[in-house]
Amino acid sequence: MKSVVILISGRGSNMEALLAAVARGELPVRVAAVISNRPDAKGLETAAQQGIATAVVDHKAFAGRELFDAAMAECIDAHAPDLVVLAGFMRILSEGFVRHYEGRLLNIHPSLLPSFPGLHTHERALAEGVRIHGCTVHFVTPALDHGPVVVQAAVPVLDGDDEATLAARVLAQEHVVYPLAVRWFAEGRLRLESGRVLLDAERALPAPLISP
Ligand code: GRF
Repeated sequence: MKSVVILISGRGSNMEALLAAVARGELPVRVAAVISNRPDAKGLETAAQQGIATAVVDHKAFAGRELFDAAMAECIDAHAPDLVVLAGFMRILSEGFVRHYEGRLLNIHPSLLPSFPGLHTHERALAEGVRIHGCTVHFVTPALDHGPVVVQAAVPVLDGDDEATLAARVLAQEHVVYPLAVRWFAEGRLRLESGRVLLDAERALPAPLISP
């Protein structure tokens, strides 16, 4: 069975969705550890309560990004994971770190990339007046919020939405697509070819999920 290390910085609801899928027997992975760059990340308690090993690599204790990333990589590699999953991990990663985990590092981003990389995606989507918004699971490359797309889920932007209602609608879909993407990886069904992700080695991309 493939082993996974999950990196978080805060609430950890995506991590919870992954752990719940494992507990239901729908996600054939072993979560080896949950690691946070913030000692106060709420998700650490949740993981520990479920018997998962937790660790903190506090970015504030390091003089620079490269030193932090090296310490984080050491902590991750102690578990020898097949896959590293960024689940609300709010740090920009150095190129060396990303290259070290090339092809086995996934991120979830709360927008339909390549629209709205970076922060405040829901606020920006509302300000732009887009009618379709969503989330993206992608393999990580050194460019921020960029990389081969594994799966996307789209949601409507409704009249009267504010940042909180839109964020909640997107988050519900994040909790669906992240376990799905990790399951595909664990089952060996994803292949990277010319910067695109193929599912089941077919010349087809995974279908998008459209929520009503
Ligand atoms: C999610 O919206 C995720 O897409 C983004 O940060 C948020 C983290 O939420 N990268 P949680 O910690 O998983 O609850």
